[in-house]
Amino acid sequence: MNAPTAIENFAPFGEAQGPMLSGPFAPLADESEYTDLPLLKGSIPADLNGVYLRAGPNPRFVPNGRYHPFDGDGMVHAAEFRNGRLTVRNRWVRTDAWQEEDAAGVATHWGIRDTMMGRTDKPMRDAANTDLVGHAGKVLALWYMAGDAYVIDPINLETLGKQSAIASTGGKISAHAKVDEITGEMMFFDYGNQAPYMHYGVVGADGELKHHVPITLPGPRLPHDMAVTEHYSILHDLPLFHDHEAMKLGRHKIDFHPELPTRLGVIPRFGRSDEIRWFDFTPCFLYHTINAWEDGDNIVMVGCRYMPAQHADGSIDAQRTAKNIAELVMTARLWRWTMNLKTGAVKEQCLDAEHNVEFPSCNAALMGRRTRYGYLSDQHATSALQWNGIRKYDLETGRSLSAWTDDVDHSWYSEPWFAAADNAQSEDHGYVIAFQFNAATKRETLDIFDARDLSTGPVAQISIPRNIPTGFHGCWVSAQRVARWNAST
Ligand SMILES: [Fe+2]
Repeated sequence: MNAPTAIENFAPFGEAQGPMLSGPFAPLADESEYTDLPLLKGSIPADLNGVYLRAGPNPRFVPNGRYHPFDGDGMVHAAEFRNGRLTVRNRWVRTDAWQEEDAAGVATHWGIRDTMMGRTDKPMRDAANTDLVGHAGKVLALWYMAGDAYVIDPINLETLGKQSAIASTGGKISAHAKVDEITGEMMFFDYGNQAPYMHYGVVGADGELKHHVPITLPGPRLPHDMAVTEHYSILHDLPLFHDHEAMKLGRHKIDFHPELPTRLGVIPRFGRSDEIRWFDFTPCFLYHTINAWEDGDNIVMVGCRYMPAQHADGSIDAQRTAKNIAELVMTARLWRWTMNLKTGAVKEQCLDAEHNVEFPSCNAALMGRRTRYGYLSDQHATSALQWNGIRKYDLETGRSLSAWTDDVDHSWYSEPWFAAADNAQSEDHGYVIAFQFNAATKRETLDIFDARDLSTGPVAQISIPRNIPTGFHGCWVSAQRVARWNAST
């Protein structure tokens, strides 16, 4: 076990900084690497080889103004599996903001609650803290509000710079770019406050920009995710956007508009701007898709529909919906949207009305192809971002196939990510990996489940000697993929 590397100029955080910077959210003060950690249950599977990476906010300095988890400096936590041996590492993403503040010794940027992108008196921090995507030999750290794509070494977590293909567009990239692991292409979008309000692009397996087109939206919007099929990409125009009056005053306030539809735009993978076709659905916000695929003339997208808050009479409570979204109160149901490219017909269906599920993954090697299984976080409590369990679904029927909850009141699971076994023989032949923090015992573990049946509990549980702050999204990069990347360079 190696000693953590202390970072100088780190101001300690505590309860006084508020609930989003203490308890399960308490930021770490250092970067570290641990091997041969105590095994609490089972054994690390020999056919699990690769690295699970997870991004999250970890402010280095006491924040300026009001803090929101989207503001914290991005930190990557990694669990690398190599022949039954585990190494756990954490490292900050060296963003421009991180480096500037490193030199200043104090926070010089502001968060989303107090400023707007583009203000020079209160520069907003592009924190690269939201999502990680394995592509073209490296991992990209991305930010939800569209920022730069920071290139990370998947093994030592070193920041290698900014992805040049994205930088060459003159624009940005949102979190939740999608990689087609069969072709090696990465599809991405950005969004912002200036017309046309969105762009869509494709980066090839070689890391070069292959396609980039403007997508005109009715106004500035706040999409969060996208989806891809083998031949199409699905972009989101959601009825959630900034309060324009507040925006003029430089404040970040969002409104939900139940009078507007949710629109899904289907564009050929290399389509022109005018080839996008929009399909209208019932109004909702939508954080995360699970996957999408083609079924004859139909485009099918499965995801987690954010359920708008309701008044007592069943009508949508727009104000409370916007407030809940802003405060990361997640209320979502497994949902399927279907669009017929020939007839224009649409259909949407709740697949499971009972469970509040989010932070999904599937077998990412099949992104854009029909997948039968999804692995989602399961929320029983109401604390923002507290996921108490993990649920496996049949995405065709919405039937829960298995689920696991350890300690309903105190468990905080990270996004459960599917990692295929070496030489996997079926879609769900592999493992589901998640960090778990128990707020009562202050115990952090890495839990590994057999993806074929979560209900038997972790097949391996490893003690982590410190908390891993609650965060956002992860990815799995298999050892074979790393080897392929290394061989091609
Ligand atoms: Fe997200």
